Amino acid sequence: MLGGTDNVETSIGHGWQKGPRNAPTVLDAVYHTAQFWGGRTKDLMEQAKGPIQASVEKNYTPERVMATLKSIPKYVEMSKKAFPKEKDPITFDNVAKAILAFEATLLIPNSRFDKFLKGDTKAFNKEEKEGLKLFIEKGCASCHSGITLGGHMYAPFGLT
Ligand code: HEC
Repeated sequence: MLGGTDNVETSIGHGWQKGPRNAPTVLDAVYHTAQFWGGRTKDLMEQAKGPIQASVEKNYTPERVMATLKSIPKYVEMSKKAFPKEKDPITFDNVAKAILAFEATLLIPNSRFDKFLKGDTKAFNKEEKEGLKLFIEKGCASCHSGITLGGHMYAPFGLT
């Protein structure tokens, strides 16, 4: 309903602190080349570890995350099922892996744009096709392309 965002200017974290930046949508985030606005982590698994520990977000230590998860029998049981070959499956890496696996399900499924990209030319009406033509002619598609319409390169602001 909120497009995969929290719909506030900057997110609210531990002790009602406000984060410094607007949170990007989680939808289709798995397809991005890098995570965070500055791209400081390469994928969602690495990304997931950040907000848990950031003092303005969850303000947890990995040790405290493990202790909390281990104190909840259902999580212990589910972790064993999810990582059957591991003796002690509640690790910080596995927490991040589980979050990645969940986020990878948060996709914008089969939109008309996706259908059009797959070759269904009837997915767009005449007006939408004209819009797309304009979008391409004006050079927008040089940055906004693919199923996510962007998120796969860095671009300086103010130069478009
Ligand atoms: C040089 C690369 C580049 C070009 C060319 C470009 N954009 Fe962007 N655009 C960006 C970047 C970078 C952002 C910011 C990232 C973001 O908000 O997801 C952005 C953001 C946007 C957003 C906001 C997206 C959001 O999630 O809030 C819209 C809408 C948009 N551009 C439309 C256009 C249109 C229309 C054109 C063509 C007239 C265009 N852009 C051309 C790079 C570009």
